[in-house]
Amino acid sequence: MIVTIDGPAGAGKSSVTRLLARRLEFEFLDTGAMYRAVTWCALDQGIDLDDQTALRSLAEEIDIQFEDDQVLVNGTNVTTNIRTPEVTRNVVAIADAPAVREHLVQIQRRIAKQGNFVCEGRDQGTVAFPDAFCKIYLTASAHSRAQRRAEQMEATGEFVDFDQIVREQETRDSQDLARPVGRLMKAEDAVEVNTDQQSLDQVVDRLEKIVKARMEELSNR
Ligand code: DC
Repeated sequence: MIVTIDGPAGAGKSSVTRLLARRLEFEFLDTGAMYRAVTWCALDQGIDLDDQTALRSLAEEIDIQFEDDQVLVNGTNVTTNIRTPEVTRNVVAIADAPAVREHLVQIQRRIAKQGNFVCEGRDQGTVAFPDAFCKIYLTASAHSRAQRRAEQMEATGEFVDFDQIVREQETRDSQDLARPVGRLMKAEDAVEVNTDQQSLDQVVDRLEKIVKARMEELSNR
C-alpha cells in the first residue's frame, strides 16, 4: 500500500510524513533526500551539473540507502551534508535532469515494493505512483510556509532574514512548477489539505482519517 504526499517546499510534508507513517505502521520515503543525495555526490566529485551524460552515469552508479532517519551515499552518512545551503542551491539542476529523475523514480518504486510506504515529494502521486490508493496534496500559504522555515532555522541557531526566505521560497516554487518532467502538480485524484493554522498533530489526525476512510472504502468494494 502506498500513500503519496506531494506539495511545495515548507508545507510541512516531511514532519507530517514521518508521523503519519508511524501511526499507520508504514515505512516512509523522503524522495527530496534522494535528489539532494545525488546533488551532494555530484558536487563532491566535481561533476559539471550541466553535463547530462555525466549526471545520468552518476545516477546509475550511486548507491543511496536509508537507515532509519539516516541517508547513506556509497556507504557514507550524508544526512547533514545534504541539507547545506550549497546543496539546496544546486539541487534544481539535478531535479531538472530527466535521466536522473527517470532513474530515481525506478529506485523509489523498487524501495516501495518492500512494504507499505508513505512517499513524500513533488511527483509521487503523478509520476512515481500514479496507482497509489491514497494521495494527499499538502499546501499552505506562502507566508506560513516561510514562517515554518524561519522557525526551523531559528531552532538550529541559523541567522534568519525573513525577506530572503520569502525570495528563496518564490524561486524554489517557480523551479518546482516549471520542471519539464516531474513538476509539482496535484494529482487529479489527490485530496488537497491546507496546513495553515493547524498544529502538526491536527494535520496528521486529518490525514490519518483520510487514509483510513480510503482503506475502508477499498475493503468494502
Ligand atoms: O523536499 P526537498 O526540499 O528536500 O527537495 C529537494 C529538491 O528536490 C527540491 O528542489 C525539489 C526536488 N524534488 C523533486 O523534484 N521531486 C521529488 N519527488 C522530491 C524533491
